[in-house]
Amino acid sequence: MGLAHLLLLSLSLFHVRGSCAAALKSEPELKSLTQDLLESAKDPEFFRWMRDIRRRIHEHPELGFEEHRTSQLIRDELDSLGIKYKWPVAKTGVVAFMGSGKKPVFALRADMDALPLQELVEWEHKSKIDGKMHACGHDSHVAMLLGAAKLLKERENQIKGTIKLVFQPGEEGYSGAYYMLQDGVLNDLDGILSIHVLPHVPTGFLASRPGPMLAGAGVFSATIHGKGGHAALPHHNIDPIVAASSAILSLQQIVSRETDPLEGKVVTVGYIEGGHTANVIPESVKFAGTFRSLSSSGLLSLQKRIKEVIEMQAAVHRCKAVVDFGEDEVPLYPVMVNDEVLYEHTKRVGEILLGEGKVQLMPVTMASEDFSYFADKTASLIFLVGIQNKTLKSHHMLHSPYFFVDEEALPIGAALHSAVAISYLDEHVEAKSACPNYGYP
Ligand SMILES: *[C@@H]1O[C@H](CO)[C@@H](O)[C@H](O)[C@H]1NC(C)=O
Ligand SMILES: [Zn+2]
Ligand SMILES: [Zn+2]
Repeated sequence: MGLAHLLLLSLSLFHVRGSCAAALKSEPELKSLTQDLLESAKDPEFFRWMRDIRRRIHEHPELGFEEHRTSQLIRDELDSLGIKYKWPVAKTGVVAFMGSGKKPVFALRADMDALPLQELVEWEHKSKIDGKMHACGHDSHVAMLLGAAKLLKERENQIKGTIKLVFQPGEEGYSGAYYMLQDGVLNDLDGILSIHVLPHVPTGFLASRPGPMLAGAGVFSATIHGKGGHAALPHHNIDPIVAASSAILSLQQIVSRETDPLEGKVVTVGYIEGGHTANVIPESVKFAGTFRSLSSSGLLSLQKRIKEVIEMQAAVHRCKAVVDFGEDEVPLYPVMVNDEVLYEHTKRVGEILLGEGKVQLMPVTMASEDFSYFADKTASLIFLVGIQNKTLKSHHMLHSPYFFVDEEALPIGAALHSAVAISYLDEHVEAKSACPNYGYP
């Protein structure tokens, strides 16, 4: 399903809402819901429970598809809350269920994995595993979602439909979202919200944007085969180093010469390996990179041109190139398109939760997120929760060894998750009864 399809999907949601005049929850109703949730999550005992979950995960970071301990912790907490779940979904993933089991179905997502990075922050709960660190805040995402689970469990009678809590493995380059979607347990979603912490945004603020927010992305790797031999006799050999150099320079012209300057595209070669010593021409050279676009057609055309440019530049230099996009395993990351209706809904809830002006407009960036596999299937939204507090030095970028989370953001995330889910289901159940033809399958 491509971008065009997504646009159609959001248009049709708009149509349903417009023609049935689904009743939005009134401002006082939302105010009382959100304040109730936030106060509960900020209650000292509740807060400590959530913070300790985050710290336990932070001390024991696990990489993609190795989140066994994190997954166990999640299941133990769900068990003590009395919440049912399915496990394993994509190895270590967990999907918990709340509510009636009927439509509509709204999901909340947290990713679980850490990064292969040495933590350089000296604090009491520093990572105990050398070379691994929760430097993208996924530990806090799990804590927020378990916080939401507890808030929702205490209010299960208010859930008009079903809420699925998605604890996803392997976000950091493992396409965990794709593998979770292979499991039928997520086939019936009407919408899904993912929260990510963001150090550029101060604690107490949120950020997002409607429509495309993050790039679609793919990776490529190329091997250029020549013929090795003595460096002093180039005419007896076929030099893959010159061919690779030429190919890499030509790749840069796909964006600079073939792309509308107003369109967002990236081609970056981030890895190159060839040869061992100064006086030998090697047999082959390898290089690899990433390509990104804000449209699915742009992504496909980049992919086509990358293959052509590398193969043809290799041929110019009498070499042979093999280009691999790794698509046998996982398709390209789709563009991350935030559903406009879900965005407006969540922005409204966020502003009522934290106050007018507390939801910032996030600029588009060429980063990517495997959550976009969800966006390709259902109305999806990423909302960013600010964690910046200069006193705590929680302003370092995602993936920095100095990354630090302001834990005051945990109750905000838990309250936002649960408030959006409850109110979304309320509004969609009302849409159904106000509009008899709006049948759920
Ligand atoms: C930042 O953190 C410090 C220490 O916890 C706290 O006293 C202060 O109120 C926080 N500032 C903001 C703007 O939240
Ligand atoms: Zn990350
Ligand atoms: Zn992340």
